[in-house]
Amino acid sequence: MCSLQAHRHSPAHMACFFYFGVVSLLSALVTCQPAPDGVHMECHERYFMIAVDRSFDAAQAHFEAVDRTGVYVITESHAAKCGYSITVLPSGYMELRASYFSCHTANQGDQVFTFSFNLLAKRNGSEAVYALNETCSPLLAWSPREVTCEVNYMEVSVRSELSCTARTQMDDWNLKSAHSSSTSDWQVMFQMHEEQLAPMSLSDAHGRGYVFELTDGRLVFRTPYEQPHSFVTMVNGVPVEVVHATLFSRQSWFVVMVDLLAACSVYEGTFEDNGYVVYETPEALYPSPDVTAMLVGLNSELLERSVFAEKGAIEIKKDIVQVRIPFHMEGGHRKSFVSGQLYEFYTFHLHLEQLFEKKATRLRLHRILATPLRRHPLLTQNQTVVEEHMFTVYLGNVPDDVELLSFQLNGHEMPQPFANTSLYVETTVQANNEHGYTLNVPFDDPAIMQEFWDIQSVKHSLDISYTLRVLPENKLYCQTVSVSALTDVYPPVMDAVCSETGITFRLDHRPLNFLWFFSVGSDMVTSELAAQRGYRMSNDSRSLQLIVPVFTQGFQYAEITLKGFLGTFEILVRETETSAVQSSITKTCPFAFSEVIACSMDGRMTVLADLAFITPSGVTSSTSNLLDVYCGPTEADGTKALFSFPLNSCGSEVKIDNNKVHYRNEIFYNGSEHSNERVVVQCTYPLDGLHRLFSMHKFESDNPGSGSIIHSKQPTAAPHPRTIQTTTRLQARAPTTSRTSRGPDVKLPASQHGNVRYIKVLRGKSYLDVRQSPLER
Ligand SMILES: *[C@@H]1O[C@H](CO)[C@@H](O)[C@H](O)[C@H]1NC(C)=O
Ligand SMILES: *[C@@H]1O[C@H](CO)[C@@H](O)[C@H](O)[C@H]1NC(C)=O
Ligand SMILES: *[C@@H]1O[C@H](CO)[C@@H](O)[C@H](O)[C@H]1NC(C)=O
Ligand SMILES: *[C@@H]1O[C@H](CO)[C@@H](O)[C@H](O)[C@H]1NC(C)=O
Ligand SMILES: *[C@@H]1O[C@H](CO)[C@@H](O)[C@H](O)[C@H]1NC(C)=O
Repeated sequence: MCSLQAHRHSPAHMACFFYFGVVSLLSALVTCQPAPDGVHMECHERYFMIAVDRSFDAAQAHFEAVDRTGVYVITESHAAKCGYSITVLPSGYMELRASYFSCHTANQGDQVFTFSFNLLAKRNGSEAVYALNETCSPLLAWSPREVTCEVNYMEVSVRSELSCTARTQMDDWNLKSAHSSSTSDWQVMFQMHEEQLAPMSLSDAHGRGYVFELTDGRLVFRTPYEQPHSFVTMVNGVPVEVVHATLFSRQSWFVVMVDLLAACSVYEGTFEDNGYVVYETPEALYPSPDVTAMLVGLNSELLERSVFAEKGAIEIKKDIVQVRIPFHMEGGHRKSFVSGQLYEFYTFHLHLEQLFEKKATRLRLHRILATPLRRHPLLTQNQTVVEEHMFTVYLGNVPDDVELLSFQLNGHEMPQPFANTSLYVETTVQANNEHGYTLNVPFDDPAIMQEFWDIQSVKHSLDISYTLRVLPENKLYCQTVSVSALTDVYPPVMDAVCSETGITFRLDHRPLNFLWFFSVGSDMVTSELAAQRGYRMSNDSRSLQLIVPVFTQGFQYAEITLKGFLGTFEILVRETETSAVQSSITKTCPFAFSEVIACSMDGRMTVLADLAFITPSGVTSSTSNLLDVYCGPTEADGTKALFSFPLNSCGSEVKIDNNKVHYRNEIFYNGSEHSNERVVVQCTYPLDGLHRLFSMHKFESDNPGSGSIIHSKQPTAAPHPRTIQTTTRLQARAPTTSRTSRGPDVKLPASQHGNVRYIKVLRGKSYLDVRQSPLER
């Protein structure tokens, strides 16, 4: 009986070692690791498979076969002779398939097969060796004849009826042939095109790349394609490569002959413009076809003809089996490709099984087919909603072997990572393994171009240039898209808040604020202007703050009453390009001061005076008067009195000196004429602004007058002459104001009593002279 032990010392292993063995030193030096993620092993009915995903660098990866005798590098030629096929797809996917009868596989009774490989591969730049072991037991019984048409070899195995004697002799022969040059009875004779070639010894055949192996129950013959003893012939118009070897041995009284015939379609595959890849093989490659038993599939899954036909197509025409695979059929391996444009192509692993001769012959064909390049346009979509004030742009249909590397916004590079920018990049997964990126860019992002479209709208424009990277070769592809949107523009609005001593304006910076500037009258608000006029300005990255103290230039005053007055400050918003006034920010605040004097440009003196010094207790200020005793206060309350009168009435004295005109009056309390306590009120105008007074006898000053209220305890040199002019009582009138910012610069002279100062008024009809003691409100 032939034992398993005998098989373990099968000559095939020795032969492989002898003829093809190259012991790898590298794997001996590196510690082996078990199968990592990204590598998986599968037992199939007629082959064992190791799949390695593209996280490994396939270009530098290689396999070694391990058996008890050593470690063998699987080179291209070794693979074809020994029953290994290694496929590396452009996507970076790598697959090793091993025949059950491959050289370094341990075979126990043609039932249990143990595979041992080392995978030497680089991932993330570091090299590792992974030990991959698997034991497979195919469920499907071996047919009398099994033919395998692999991508790199043809293999045929037949049930062996050889007696143990014959087997032993063959084993002996092989052992001898491996170790000595002695001759044997076993010969091989090839046939080409019906012609029988001269027999050669098995050792000659081995030397020419043919492998013969005897297992427990089968005789195996394997040859790479395009060997000298194989030939291509047309069968029903399809090219078929045929190798026909006859193994024979002259025993003492009989001849043993084994016919080993392998025929494989070597059709290259074609494609149809309507999107199909086509493969053909003759229907009757071996006698008596049984088409109902045909199986076909992509990758390793074999399907019934009818099931396959739901996705692809399989037809038998004129004795030719034609498999048609649609480009997008599930199971295809897609690959992106850049050549100016973005292209794609598909690679298919086609598996086909045919049974012939009442299932006595099983043929397995494995071919790799690729589609031509086809354009793969990416999708760009403008999903902007103007109300959201940002651009939303979608880049979609991005294949899974393409990733976004960076993008440019109007030429500004935005490298990864995209976090921590004002931008927001979201990745969405689409069906069919594609994905997309949504990019959100606020309209006020500095990269966005803004321009006036018309008087009321601004156009925001954005050119996006995406840089995409095609894996695994890292080839770059650019996709561009331009979007724009119109938004209404509103001039900036400042907050204004009253305080006891002034008005505080505040502006939050907005990106479009550069379209406008601010002015007080015609003077642009700058830090220089602020310093010059006593405004307090601060400007940081978030906001601009401008504090205008009351009485600084730019104020207008109204409604001077005993309680105080209203101060108004206006800031104009002008277009940066044209300087045209677009809007204004005006704020009016009540201010309360105990004394105020206003000298208007149209010749009126308005005085709020505190007469506490001169009013005897218990007497109210309502009984006070000016030099002309008939001129009384328009309002009076306790010690305070408000007078408003034309400058040259009510007994005013006029004096001209140093190019100035002084209008001077005094406030008396009844009976205080003889006291040494007096309140002198005075308005002073530059003479050169009063030319109309002399030409038209009309008071109209170009400039506001400056006023003063002087409390004096000094006895007057002489009693004041009383004006005899009688006037009607005056109505209280607020000083009118006008809107120019011309006017003399404000000087703040030292007050005579330390509590009076002169302040310029906006556009200046009036000067106010104020005692700086705010009233309680
Ligand atoms: C390789 O690196 C990537 C990221 O750089 C990481 O996600 C992955 O886990 C790494 N793989 C291995 C096997 O270390
Ligand atoms: C794989 O098989 C080899 C040789 O048969 C053995 O040395 C090794 O320990 C095995 N490794 C694993 C992970 O089983
Ligand atoms: C983004 O900002 C957060 C906090 O603001 C910080 O913790 C993180 O490190 C930043 N990330 C990058 C990539 O700069
Ligand atoms: C993009 O979308 C916005 C908002 O719907 C629209 O105003 C604009 O015209 C669109 N087209 C382009 C090319 O930007
Ligand atoms: C305030 O600062 C911003 C930038 O921080 C600048 O754009 C603006 O012109 C400044 N405004 C003034 C009035 O100086």
